[in-house]
Amino acid sequence: MKVVVTGGAGFIGSHIVDLLIENNYKVAVIDNLSTGKEANVNKKALFYKADIKSRETALILKKEMPDYIIHEAAQISVAASVRNPVFDAETNILGSLNLLEFTKLNGVKKFIFASSGGTVYGEPEKFPVTEKFPLQACSPYGISKMTVEYYIRFYCKEFKLNYTALRYSNVYGPRQDPHGEAGVVAIFSRAVLSGIAPVINGDGKYIRDYVYCKDVARANLLALESGFSGSVNIGTGRGVDVNELYTAVAKAACFKGKAAHGPARPGDIRKNILAIAGAKKTLKWAPKTGLEQGIKETLEYFKKQEKK
Ligand SMILES: NC(=O)c1ccc[n+]([C@@H]2O[C@H](COP(=O)([O-])OP(=O)(O)OC[C@H]3O[C@@H](n4cnc5c(N)ncnc54)[C@H](O)[C@@H]3O)[C@@H](O)[C@H]2O)c1
Repeated sequence: MKVVVTGGAGFIGSHIVDLLIENNYKVAVIDNLSTGKEANVNKKALFYKADIKSRETALILKKEMPDYIIHEAAQISVAASVRNPVFDAETNILGSLNLLEFTKLNGVKKFIFASSGGTVYGEPEKFPVTEKFPLQACSPYGISKMTVEYYIRFYCKEFKLNYTALRYSNVYGPRQDPHGEAGVVAIFSRAVLSGIAPVINGDGKYIRDYVYCKDVARANLLALESGFSGSVNIGTGRGVDVNELYTAVAKAACFKGKAAHGPARPGDIRKNILAIAGAKKTLKWAPKTGLEQGIKETLEYFKKQEKK
């Protein structure tokens, strides 16, 4: 069975590619390397440097004729989407439509979409957030993820496309970009390993649900192999605030420095925790890696990177 993974040179996509190859799938990656790295791509996968918006991508799909598409490629920054909503929509909405159009006539068995449980629900008031909560995204990035889910539902109804939209919470782990605006575990890990105490935005009492990248990759594999068509949360059901997170990273790295507090990031929601009973029921998925273990593996990765 052949799988095309878009964004397979990126953080989450590359872990999905590794797991698919371990499970004997043939994999082709489409990635424009805007944030991804070719070095992340498993040597056993075919790699195409292409933009998901381009005609070239449509031709690659025709050539590869995949059984499945796992769509991870995206503009991933909420702040960048606020600065440039047109670019966000071009990549995240039009790029996704370019792939969905291919699924219409070409026998794709299932389309897996990386959605965002941290943004599609907007600012929920009750936690943990279940899939029944209305979609009311309040950033261009969240709106683009929500919109693609609606398009996918249309392709499902109209063209019988099987799909799973996986609404990830905050994903962390090896290969995450430590220079970005997101990816706080990577940012903290890199800082403490360099002997620098990081700056925490605002009071640090922002609660998030941190899920390990390899658990997310496993959710993709289960989604691909399951008969379930629909949207489902992928998180841990556990909330951790940024101060606690920093303490855990510093402790694991035996770093004694105290983090300073800077200004709060405008628009950051206070809390997000996802309910995961849906994933347990529909995909038989539950996270296996606890935060302590995940932080340990992330630190080991960044330590090795520093030596390179
Ligand atoms: N990291 C998280 O916590 C998180 C949470 C929710 C959802 N997601 C979603 O998961 C997916 C993967 O995110 P990630 O954290 O691995 O980010 P990432 O930036 O590491 O991966 C995205 C990949 O897509 C590629 N890409 C971007 N634009 C492209 C384009 N136009 N054409 C082809 N390739 C393109 C990049 O080069 C990169 O390799 C994204 O869809 C993101 O929105 C991530």
